[in-house]
Amino acid sequence: MRHASGIPLSPRQAIPYRPGTGQADVMKVLVVYDSMHGNTEKIARVIGGATGPDTGLERVGSAGARALEGVDLLIVGSPTHGGKPTPATQQFLAALGEASLKGVKVAAFDTRLPSRFVGMFGYAATRVAKDLESKGATLVAPPEGFMVKATRGPLKDGEIGRAAKWAGALLG
Ligand SMILES: Cc1cc2nc3c(=O)[nH]c(=O)nc-3n(C[C@H](O)[C@H](O)[C@H](O)COP(=O)(O)O)c2cc1C
Repeated sequence: MRHASGIPLSPRQAIPYRPGTGQADVMKVLVVYDSMHGNTEKIARVIGGATGPDTGLERVGSAGARALEGVDLLIVGSPTHGGKPTPATQQFLAALGEASLKGVKVAAFDTRLPSRFVGMFGYAATRVAKDLESKGATLVAPPEGFMVKATRGPLKDGEIGRAAKWAGALLG
């Protein structure tokens, strides 16, 4: 089975049991990401594929409050720029209303350089996770970083597989 993006699906699907309904319902998953050189987008697509065929994928600039309606699991990813998420990601987070993510599960990831020096400035995912939690969301996994070999990429070997595994674990 394949996601619309063409990425093979994990055998694990996002299908929680909804108490009271007597049936399993499909969990609504949304991946919101930013990407300057395409590496974070690649990871976002893999995460989308690993969480189910109906997972939504939106760039930060086009993801408004509407896209978040009825979302059970929101996953936000950004490149690390100066130890922070990109300005567009920060704007997306700032636009979320207070307590707007109450009852929503969230996870955050970034892409970053494997350099101790740049690590001193911190990483995007840590800040994104903090912001999401401050809007009332429940963090379901520690913030995760995926490595690029250089500013424009490519991703380090093995990071695609690691992203699929990380995403599968978010389904609980
Ligand atoms: C303006 C700028 C600032 C950056 N700052 C950092 C940084 O503080 N820490 C880090 O690990 N990587 C930093 N990088 C490298 C990015 O993490 C890398 O370009 C990104 O992961 C690539 O993702 P993308 O292809 O989705 O844009 C920076 C890159 C740019 C362009």
